[in-house]
Amino acid sequence: MLDVEQIRKDFPILETGIIYLDSTASSLTPEPVLRKMLEFYREYRGNVGRGIHRLSVKASEEYERAHAKVADFINAKSESEIIMTRNTTEGINIVASGLNWKKGDKIVMSVIEHHSNFIVWLRVRDRHGVQVKVVKPKEPVIKGILDPADFEKVIDDETRLVAITHVSNVLGVITPVEEIVEIAHEHGAYVLIDAAQSVPHMKVDVQQIDCEFLAFSGHKMCAPTGSGVLYIREELIDEVEPLCIGGGTISDVGLDSYSLDGSPGRFEAGTPDVAAAIGLGAAIDYLQRIGMENIESYERILVRQMYEGLSELSKVEVYGPEPEHRVGIMPFNVGDLNPHDVALALDVSADIMVRSGHHCALPLSKAVLGKPGSVRASVYIYNTEKEIDKFVSTVKEIAETLAK
Ligand code: ALA
Repeated sequence: MLDVEQIRKDFPILETGIIYLDSTASSLTPEPVLRKMLEFYREYRGNVGRGIHRLSVKASEEYERAHAKVADFINAKSESEIIMTRNTTEGINIVASGLNWKKGDKIVMSVIEHHSNFIVWLRVRDRHGVQVKVVKPKEPVIKGILDPADFEKVIDDETRLVAITHVSNVLGVITPVEEIVEIAHEHGAYVLIDAAQSVPHMKVDVQQIDCEFLAFSGHKMCAPTGSGVLYIREELIDEVEPLCIGGGTISDVGLDSYSLDGSPGRFEAGTPDVAAAIGLGAAIDYLQRIGMENIESYERILVRQMYEGLSELSKVEVYGPEPEHRVGIMPFNVGDLNPHDVALALDVSADIMVRSGHHCALPLSKAVLGKPGSVRASVYIYNTEKEIDKFVSTVKEIAETLAK
């Protein structure tokens, strides 16, 4: 079990008395990560891969070490499979723009995807004449549980890619990705996993999942904004045309020709966000010290408390599956109240921060919730049971005083 009081000391912003329940949008950043980034700026602020002087050499070593930490964290076979990006969205776009699509190819995705793993594929359809199939959750759809049998019905030999979330950013529901990967591979299709909401909260192993591509963001896992990762399985690196090329991406340039460097260099054009990548490495150290299994089980305790507390309230409707099928994400609505009004009331009356609205998942709002949006509370390593009590009692108050 993790020592939450000790962890909270690393997040001085919590001393202001806020209750931060919006880590699904972006997590807070602990002091060791901030110190590591400052160390770069103060002690070895140089460019990476571009200098022979000591600052550049040290910065390059630290930047490469961050790739190695990510590779170890998600059990990639090699550091060349780890591409530093700005966020999950960029990683998904690299794959979408980099594969050589042919008319008649098929992409399979689900209705619970974040827009970044949805509209990207609609654009591929519109540009390249690819077909797109969208799988819905099984009944009752409100739980958001994706059934591999429904993927089996639509994945065929034309399917080039299955693009699927590991954990829904709205419902918190965990997708059975390994079973879906197996079905995809039977038909020769690749699988891209949107792991933005899984990597921060549970042990994710790319070799065990056996996916070809996996993308996640650093800013949801204690790392700075502007840090993210795209994993590309080693054998497929040559199949993905980089989104940007230029400085840092070549092995040679002639007067009328160029050859690209290996990975990850070929995908990381221009001077990267060195501090963000080094900060991501420090965030991984931080999470590994706590232990991903501890994080997952602690969050499940908190989400169960939210699920049970909110489910008991009249006028409050909760969405998503039972706690054992979800990470620490809890969406709900209060009577006829607009979700933004509920979020504002939580902030103003009790210093509680949650997200409200469609959560960048309008297809889910329309086809699963049947509502324009919801209020979403989400937990992380620094939240406490006492905070959840306060959250539930404040929602109760709002429901009793403001909702019809
Ligand atoms: N994708 C982030 C969220 O779900 C921003 O809030």
